[in-house]
Amino acid sequence: METERIIAYFLCMLLVLASRSGVILPCALQDDELCEVSEAETELITEPETTEPTETEPETADETEPEPTEAETVGETEEYVEEVTEPETEPISYVVGTSSAGYPIERVDGITYVGGVLIANKSYSLPSWYNVGGLTPETEAAFSELSSAAELEGLSIYCISGFRSYQTQNSVYWNYVSADGAELADTYSARPGHSEHQTGLALDVNSLYTSFGDTAEGKWLAEHCHEYGFIIRYPADKVDITGYMYEPWHIRYVGKYIAGQIKAQGICLEEYLGITSCYE
Ligand code: DAL
Ligand code: ZN
Repeated sequence: METERIIAYFLCMLLVLASRSGVILPCALQDDELCEVSEAETELITEPETTEPTETEPETADETEPEPTEAETVGETEEYVEEVTEPETEPISYVVGTSSAGYPIERVDGITYVGGVLIANKSYSLPSWYNVGGLTPETEAAFSELSSAAELEGLSIYCISGFRSYQTQNSVYWNYVSADGAELADTYSARPGHSEHQTGLALDVNSLYTSFGDTAEGKWLAEHCHEYGFIIRYPADKVDITGYMYEPWHIRYVGKYIAGQIKAQGICLEEYLGITSCYE
């Protein structure tokens, strides 16, 4: 009996030792309560902490986004600037034909020259990017001479509308269309791209009433403007050719030679160059 007790005691001790050394897994053998593990054991069986640094969101945008540089600022501003399509390469020039008067019709980056004369009328338009920013120096100098000569005769001839950009003409034309309808507006206002005012070579003087032609200034202008290189661009007797009503106030700089020829022959610019003026 004593021997049995000793054997039983050793068996118990063996079970206790085996259990502590993990040779016997209580969970596999017993209910869940036996699966409880100590905090120390938890540390061993959980995933080790990664040593990779984790990405954290910046607290504020300011901390991560640097102030824009000057160049970036300009770049951002340019996004809101109207698109500029002016060609940056060498002008592409080619002759597209010959006018009925025998002059070459040349296109240079979308701008038409007939016999070397820049033309903007109903048949030939200017690109929207074409912007000389004001009257050309030759036009301005010639008009200055003209008005000084008129002044010597006691007459006052002054500019009321000179250069107009494509965009300005766009507003002007569509305002007239709103007021009078397109058919009537087309008889006195050029569609955007078709106005001579965009060339910087034309200007309106004194008054936009046809009665201006009957005034002393209007008569003097019609009689003498060619001496300064200008023509009355839309004469009363050439409406069917120019495509516009009589405008005694609208003068166009073409240089003294051509202006003298046009005056002497009693013709308009379309007749002189041998071209049409009509919308397609
Ligand atoms: N009044 C002239 C035709 C223009 O609008 O250019
Ligand atoms: Zn005009």
